[in-house]
Amino acid sequence: MANVAILGAGFIGDFYAFSIHGQRNRDRVQVIYSRDDSRGRAFAQKHGIPQWTTSIKDAVENPEVEIVIIGLPNNLHLDAVKLAAEAGKAIFCTKPLGRNADEAKQMLDFVEKAGVVHGYLEDLVYTPKTLKAIQSVRSGAIGQVTWARSRETHPGPHSDWFWTKEISGGGVLLDMGCHCIEISRNYIGKDIKPVEVMCWADTLVKPIAAEDNALGWVRYENGAVGQFEVSWTFRGGMDLRDEVMGTEGTVWVNNFLRTGFEIFTAGGKGGYVAEKAESEKGWIFPVGDEVVELGYTDMFTDMFNAFEAGKEPCETFYDGYVVNEIMDACYRSARSKKWESVRLETWRGREKTERLSALQSYDEDHLLVKEERMPDGSLKVILKNKKTGQISQSVTSPVTGTS
Ligand SMILES: NC(=O)c1ccc[n+]([C@@H]2O[C@H](COP(=O)([O-])OP(=O)(O)OC[C@H]3O[C@@H](n4cnc5c(N)ncnc54)[C@H](O)[C@@H]3O)[C@@H](O)[C@H]2O)c1
Repeated sequence: MANVAILGAGFIGDFYAFSIHGQRNRDRVQVIYSRDDSRGRAFAQKHGIPQWTTSIKDAVENPEVEIVIIGLPNNLHLDAVKLAAEAGKAIFCTKPLGRNADEAKQMLDFVEKAGVVHGYLEDLVYTPKTLKAIQSVRSGAIGQVTWARSRETHPGPHSDWFWTKEISGGGVLLDMGCHCIEISRNYIGKDIKPVEVMCWADTLVKPIAAEDNALGWVRYENGAVGQFEVSWTFRGGMDLRDEVMGTEGTVWVNNFLRTGFEIFTAGGKGGYVAEKAESEKGWIFPVGDEVVELGYTDMFTDMFNAFEAGKEPCETFYDGYVVNEIMDACYRSARSKKWESVRLETWRGREKTERLSALQSYDEDHLLVKEERMPDGSLKVILKNKKTGQISQSVTSPVTGTS
């Protein structure tokens, strides 16, 4: 059992409180911080939280609080982490960790110097489907991962500060690229170094200083590529999809929109449908249990288990820092229109990773390039001679044998 202070009584604070109190959960939110007293009180009443405060310092120093959960706008993460680390509390911080890698590194230093348990609240690597897919990939189900593609698109965020670059630190690349990048890292291997990135980012639709659309590729030392696609101008709801290609298989994950639960409502009297759903009428696409489907439940289970065991959870501030370094490189690439190096000041993964290799010997003299059953029933085998390098093919007819 753990006692928690949540900083921030907004959208994510709500999801976190629902998730932590969940279904008769033993962990409790003891204090909610909101800069506005009446919002704090209302939030406390809604979630059965005994105390509320308008002081971050009072919340983190409250003697009953063991864990501080940060759900504040991006510009406030750094100061909140500093205060909580000084108070010696375990700290779990929402995404993105910093507005840039410099802030993220400072946060990492604060928690490591204080010696407190720290977790990076990247919920989308904890969705039930993603957890199962990552487990399958790690146990070898799809061979070596060559490409991991992750997409998060929706019609844009729900509060003014996201759209204000000085507060948020960036646009959709920072806000949602962070999810996609960490999902791809989990599939490709978090110990494999991200070396360089290519990114396109532009402001296509909204009247804002930051980018509202971005695409990018993160190249890892072993040759694998993580691709992200993010948009704040997608119409039709929230689309969270991932595809992973391996030498022996493929994973397709659809986490949210149109996953097999559809309702038709002529009157649209049902109210809230799902996060970022644009329609409450006609055919709608609800989500059974959003807190579970979006990964919050499994994420907090990992976080609280780690806290109790005094261990690291699966996602730490170090992961948040790596993601921020990758995104900084993406912003450089979007400006230069060139591949840009990821400047990891601190790298804790493998130092040298061999390039991916999945060559298959066919016989003593040949490597197998490709085998395919043709429409006439024959089997075509394409080979490469190991000595000469020559590519050749043979066609085995099901009736007559090799021709
Ligand atoms: N999937 C996820 O993990 C996820 C989803 C949404 C948001 N987030 C993150 O959570 C954080 C908060 O986002 P949100 O969606 O809850 O935003 P929000 O606007 O819904 O809530 C933010 C809260 O902070 C308060 N606030 C704003 N400015 C403040 C200030 N200067 N001082 C003190 N309090 C202030 C607001 O009143 C509000 O209660 C962001 O870092 C965001 O990236 C994560």
